[in-house]
Amino acid sequence: MLNTNFCKIELQNPLVLASGILGTSIEILKRVVANGAGAVTTKSIGPIEREGHNNPTVVEIENGLYNAVGLPTPGYLNMDEEFKRWSEISVPLIASIYGSSVEDYVKITKHLQKYKPALIELNISCPNKDDGMVFGTSPKLTKELVSAVKEVSQVPIMPKLTPNCSNIAEIALACEKAGADAICAINTVQKEIAHPNLKAPLLAYGKGGISGPIIKEIALEKVKEIRDVVEIPILGVGGITTGKDAIEMLKAGATLVGIGSGVYFRGMDIFKKVADEMKKIMQKEGIKSLNELK
Ligand SMILES: Cc1cc2nc3c(=O)[nH]c(=O)nc-3n(C[C@H](O)[C@H](O)[C@H](O)COP(=O)(O)O)c2cc1C
Repeated sequence: MLNTNFCKIELQNPLVLASGILGTSIEILKRVVANGAGAVTTKSIGPIEREGHNNPTVVEIENGLYNAVGLPTPGYLNMDEEFKRWSEISVPLIASIYGSSVEDYVKITKHLQKYKPALIELNISCPNKDDGMVFGTSPKLTKELVSAVKEVSQVPIMPKLTPNCSNIAEIALACEKAGADAICAINTVQKEIAHPNLKAPLLAYGKGGISGPIIKEIALEKVKEIRDVVEIPILGVGGITTGKDAIEMLKAGATLVGIGSGVYFRGMDIFKKVADEMKKIMQKEGIKSLNELK
């Protein structure tokens, strides 16, 4: 009932672990699969070793999370032992990568080819690193980046977009024109939240990105804006914690639905829970497949 297809990749269900929520450890990704995820995304992999920001890096806020982890990474050249084990994951694995230059993204993409991820997600949308959104806020730079990466990849390419830009549809269109196979949207929504008592920022980095139910309406709106202008499929992410939310995201125009902060709010088995809730809603409405739902 929930099986689907994304860039010619078959999935048992449309629910995908979003990048960064549970790291890159194979054992954790396996647990997510055992808990019903249709696909998993790794934490974003970077060009060189990077520590990330000082604590506090993640705090709970009303209806969401607020984070500035800062893209810690061992660097792709130090991760081969982990990449080799990707083949143990029984569902499609999406490799998320980031960089500071076109060359960074190209180098990492080339390196990952032999490990055959199902897709490569280009994180051009991180609000928690000084240059994390440079590409994702410029249609010109996005187009240059996607064209260059596309040239060196046998694997489908999916840029991940930020809502922190003036026109996300324009960026999505630039991706499609440059040959992107899919779009992922959205990354966290940038905010600066002060600590209520200490007159200091809540996170050590000073600013951060919000996620979870508090951003659901923004994510749905951005996915609709993208759907209106591109033909390529969309992985819709942002604030999804229930079957009803997931169906809303599919109706907004997404083919797959990412779940990130929801793991914190409903536990690792959120994938099973959301799938069951989706099936119940569809049965009640007499809908037999996701195609029919659309
Ligand atoms: C703690 C944390 C770490 C994240 N790390 C990454 C990351 O490494 N790469 C990335 O593309 N997105 C990252 N994200 C963004 C999520 O993948 C997702 O786009 C965002 O949280 C919205 O979805 P959600 O509301 O379901 O959490 C992170 C989010 C959180 C909360």
